[in-house]
Amino acid sequence: MPDNIRVTIQRQDSPQSQPYNETFEVPHKPQMNVISLLQDIAASPVTTEGRETTPVVWDCNCLEEVCGACSMVINGRARQACTALIDNLLKEHPTIDLKPMSKFPVIRDLFVDRKRMFNALKKVKAWIPVDTYGYIGEGPITSPETHDVRYPLSQCMTCGCCLEVCPQVNENSDFIGPQAIGQAMLFNTHPTGAMTANERLDALMEKGGVADCGNAQNCVKACPKGVPLTWAIGKAGRDTTALTFRRWFMKK
Ligand code: SF4
Ligand code: SF4
Ligand code: FES
Repeated sequence: MPDNIRVTIQRQDSPQSQPYNETFEVPHKPQMNVISLLQDIAASPVTTEGRETTPVVWDCNCLEEVCGACSMVINGRARQACTALIDNLLKEHPTIDLKPMSKFPVIRDLFVDRKRMFNALKKVKAWIPVDTYGYIGEGPITSPETHDVRYPLSQCMTCGCCLEVCPQVNENSDFIGPQAIGQAMLFNTHPTGAMTANERLDALMEKGGVADCGNAQNCVKACPKGVPLTWAIGKAGRDTTALTFRRWFMKK
């Protein structure tokens, strides 16, 4: 391993300003991840030209690939900074390149606003409705088969890696994105959530819904949690079609 790690970071001072690059050299230490690398830069923010600069801004929370907050583009791939180990990255490439995810507005440097995903979750009502805050006992028991379907979907951490690689998610499209479709199917396959399944399917049939998916399947490959997105998109397509036919026949 090198004595020093060369890191180029795409920086941006405010949501309105233009991005620019800065390069840093950081002493190599064992067991570093991208977060500890950024912490070392923050402790002494001096570029390779010897110019003092501001500490780089990034977001993180759980530090164990559960919250999704630290997602950024690391050496060309959207992933979590907390589980991106420096020694592994250096085996693939001699330098480190960090950029903010491109499908979300930059707040500052590597810190992006992931609100569009949370708005998409609101749109598809990605929750189980309850009519009281009081204790209502245990939830319904589900079969092992249902559990096998739902558990992988429940691992989504709203990180945004699937939106980052999706060609249908761009500044000119309203596409809700694969993550929200996956969560709609998670709650539609819950015994209580199924009571409001049609409301989620209605949201998926609106402009920017599941029909906008181009089926390139980039999303499922990019998901760090193995969420079965193509299964969810396929099921959402079938369920919305079936709902349309049911309503059509009921009118007859
Ligand atoms: S399969 Fe659909 S959601 Fe996934 S990357 Fe392709 S267009 Fe986007
Ligand atoms: S589906 Fe996967 S890639 Fe997409 S937001 Fe959830 S965890 Fe991240
Ligand atoms: S800090 Fe939560 S996923 Fe990295």
